[in-house]
Amino acid sequence: MKHDAIAVIDFGGQYAHLITTKVRRLRVLAEIRQPEDPIEKFREYKGIIISGSPALSSFGEESTYTKELYDLPLPIFGFCFGHQEIAKHYRGKVIHGGREWGHTELYITAASPIFKGLGPVEQVWMSHNDSVAEVGRGFKEIGYSKLGADGTVHRFAAIASENLRRYGVQFHPEVDDTLNGEKMIANFVLGICGCAPTWTMGNYIDEQVRRIRERVGNDSVFLLASGGVDSTVTAKLLGLALGPDRLHLLHVDNGLMRKDESRKVLESFRAMGLDKNLHFVDASEEFLAALAGVIDPERKRTIIGDTFIRVFEREARRLGIEDHLLGQGTIYPDTIETGGTKRADTIKTHHNRVPVIEEMIAQGRVIEPLSDLYKVEVRELGELLGLDRELVWKHPFPGPGLGVRLLCSDGSADRTDFERIVPEVKRVAAIYGLEGEVLPIRSVGVKADLRSYEHPVMLSGKASWETLFEAAGTIFREVAGINRCIWNLAGGRPRAFIPVAAGVTKDRLDLLREVDHLVMEGLRRHGVYYEIWQCPICLVPLAIDGKGRELVVIRPIYSERAMTAAPARLPQVLIKELRASLLKLPGVSGLSLDLTSKPPGTIEWE
Ligand code: XMP
Repeated sequence: MKHDAIAVIDFGGQYAHLITTKVRRLRVLAEIRQPEDPIEKFREYKGIIISGSPALSSFGEESTYTKELYDLPLPIFGFCFGHQEIAKHYRGKVIHGGREWGHTELYITAASPIFKGLGPVEQVWMSHNDSVAEVGRGFKEIGYSKLGADGTVHRFAAIASENLRRYGVQFHPEVDDTLNGEKMIANFVLGICGCAPTWTMGNYIDEQVRRIRERVGNDSVFLLASGGVDSTVTAKLLGLALGPDRLHLLHVDNGLMRKDESRKVLESFRAMGLDKNLHFVDASEEFLAALAGVIDPERKRTIIGDTFIRVFEREARRLGIEDHLLGQGTIYPDTIETGGTKRADTIKTHHNRVPVIEEMIAQGRVIEPLSDLYKVEVRELGELLGLDRELVWKHPFPGPGLGVRLLCSDGSADRTDFERIVPEVKRVAAIYGLEGEVLPIRSVGVKADLRSYEHPVMLSGKASWETLFEAAGTIFREVAGINRCIWNLAGGRPRAFIPVAAGVTKDRLDLLREVDHLVMEGLRRHGVYYEIWQCPICLVPLAIDGKGRELVVIRPIYSERAMTAAPARLPQVLIKELRASLLKLPGVSGLSLDLTSKPPGTIEWE
């Protein structure tokens, strides 16, 4: 089936995925396109949405893109930067100024199909420094905005040319704070573009089964099955299309898995009837040997990736299945983020897109039946395919596993810039009645789409969640060089943090596995497991006040696609229980909860 589809032009940041997801919720396929894609790529769509951008339209930043798209006879809808670009292209004027930020009222001044079914005043969400000051011939203002009851009028907050079917809004319809944003998107996608809502997971199963059969022919597929949601749904779909005989599954225990994980994964494949050719290799020792003595986070990541490829190639040869197609559970954002485009996040390369795999893709030897889907769609598909709820809603777990959650150190303290940072942190923490200590180590974060490697801060003291999150936010804003804040759950005020030499060892991993297991059990027991997107647990090799060797960090987050995240709250009873169970584990020096949003932190610590 050929689906009606919308192209979402990605001018940067987080906007494009959010817009795409919102369109797909209407059961219409939306795909991300880059601004400089050739014009042919745009022709097949029923409409185009131009996203927002951190760039400034008034200064002509990002102004070299495929402008012929404006000549296509397709409806176009621009949000924020996209709105300004539309105005500019049709001889309007964009100025630097008229900044608005936050909740704003939109006063609709003319009837337009884009605002069908809306009231005369709508709450919308703004975040811009440039403004449309004039529109060209054929365009008209269909709404202005006002920030606050006594705010000044901001003209051209919404513009349209009904003839050309061009629409622009200064605000962001894709965010939930624009209360009727989804209605506006629906008006465009279903009404103006006339897309048929055929993008359903039921249809997807039928189409993929057909496509897999065509693609694989009489061959077989060899799938690396980690046991995560994506690879399990892939296995189930391949099994449905090809039958269990032509599907080989390989599960590798890299020694960086959770407690009992490999056993559970194998059991669940057996329960699904996919064990006809189920292979298992315990490569823990090989991974641990390769990681021995390695401290640097990126090197650890590379070693884990390379070792994995080595093990998988060797096993494939040993099993005589190296000629089979390679199946992968790659999902849509993975294919975009390592896309190598100008705006792609370069924080890290996804393991499904390392050079060996890229080469196999180029040779047509890789099959990725979920590569059009977002995580939420994969989960819907999993449910339709009859997978257990427990499995479908399992928290995402990174490819390099606990390897990126076990921080390593050569034992030396990193106090770069402490003379400046420490007093600033203490001053801000005191405003909130808290104590603030800067840790003499670093963790990974992301600022303005770039990787950062900076000091975490530990806050101690009693405070409400609101105060803690606000204190963390103020520290990130006011103190350069800090990308993470954690809250001390152990009580008291720690005075000395002594880095301890520590690498990736089985003992440390076993401790991390135990802590992780206790926390996950706690989340389930208190009924909060499913509302939390993910909850990494980290061990940081720090002796606190001369005690123990490992600071435990619990990092529960709320998120939708893992591209941004907010720190989650845990029930106080659970915190109390964890304090009692974790602090008595041998080697544990302290216990803390991560208060960091993404950005400026990443979800994982490395
Ligand atoms: P970050 O730490 O970048 O994580 O905020 C975003 C999401 O990606 C997961 N993650 C990975 N997944 N291989 C993976 O398969 C990796 O190397 C990797 N690094 C991070 C992380 O758990 C979160 O869901």
